[in-house]
Amino acid sequence: MSLWNVPLADIDLGDDEISAVTEVLRSKWLSMGAVTAEFERQFAAMVDVKHAFAVTNCTAALHLAHLALGAGPGDTVICPSLTCVATANAIRYTGASPVFADVTSTENCNISPESIAARLDATTKGICVVHYGGYPCDMDSIMALARRHGLYVVEDVAHAPGAGCWVTLPGNGQDRGGERVFKQCGNIGDIGCFSFFSNKNLTTGEGGMLTTNNDELAERIKLLRSHGMTSLTWDRDRGHSFSYDVTASGFNHRIDELRSALGLVQLRKLAANNQRRAEAVNRYHEKLAALEGITLPFAHYADLSSYHLLPIVLPADDQRPGFMQFLKECGIQTSIHYPPIHQFTYYRSCTSPAALPVTEQLGRRLVTLPLYPHITPRQIDAVVEAVTAWHSQYV
Ligand SMILES: Cc1ncc(COP(=O)(O)O)c(C=O)c1O
Repeated sequence: MSLWNVPLADIDLGDDEISAVTEVLRSKWLSMGAVTAEFERQFAAMVDVKHAFAVTNCTAALHLAHLALGAGPGDTVICPSLTCVATANAIRYTGASPVFADVTSTENCNISPESIAARLDATTKGICVVHYGGYPCDMDSIMALARRHGLYVVEDVAHAPGAGCWVTLPGNGQDRGGERVFKQCGNIGDIGCFSFFSNKNLTTGEGGMLTTNNDELAERIKLLRSHGMTSLTWDRDRGHSFSYDVTASGFNHRIDELRSALGLVQLRKLAANNQRRAEAVNRYHEKLAALEGITLPFAHYADLSSYHLLPIVLPADDQRPGFMQFLKECGIQTSIHYPPIHQFTYYRSCTSPAALPVTEQLGRRLVTLPLYPHITPRQIDAVVEAVTAWHSQYV
């Protein structure tokens, strides 16, 4: 039972997930095997990429992505500060350092291509973008910048499974160069990293996925995911090999069959649930638009979102604690996405100070309202009523 009349997030789990997990338990094969292979196959098809690798969470996916792309000591990788700390931590695991770029505006919480360009220097190895709240970044500008400077691009797609945008293929009229195509998030940069954490649009409790079209990167990811070993327990059980070599100092970032079984059921529900989220967001936006001084990020967004978060920006810096308390007293849970990473004690101690005025303003004023596929119109109206009551008293 939730403590809240309207919780911040909720997930769509039912009998299909219970049956799928039970079936795996009955099979008695729990570590990565045929169910995971099928989850990867179907996920790759959804994103329209050649390769997908399921892992234990998105943090592990990001770690493997930066490693496979060659980040290491002395390198820097540009990423937003307005994100989950995992985005930056994963860069640090490789020995490289994150360099924080600002986000675009209070209406667009995604990393700003102009700010990325301003942060480039001889140490820059790559860029890690985050499709904030499920809204794809300006990938045309970011990919063009990366190509011009020979940088890699990792997409942190934790919020954005099923989201996508129109991009221009590189090249000048050759091999479809210049053509506009619609691509899923996770199929635009070199590697996409997804999260299946328990509040995400597609959940397995903990879990993640890497996607790529690059065969060499795929081989490297496969190796690093499982101790640097050239064959898996599953391969040996199938009689495909008797032994193995170790060709890299790898990790155990593997998923298991129980979570892959959950993932397969959740994947079937993803598009419909994203659509339900879209309808909820439309209802919120229509009703909240009248409240002067409150900004609704991404309210006029043109590409395809997965509507993971519903952020609003309060009119003034000092209002958030009172606003969150007011909603709490109405039984409504809210959250903050995100306290900026560069202001955390640890990151203040290990990264150069950065001027990130938009991020810092959002860091003081952003609030996330409840959103999940089965939120009811009545629940949305209750949230809007509470926000309106707060607004009439304090703005
Ligand atoms: C943007 C972003 N990146 C990375 C992560 C890390 O994901 P995980 O919890 O699956 O490691 C999260 C988690 O919530 C996230 O929101």
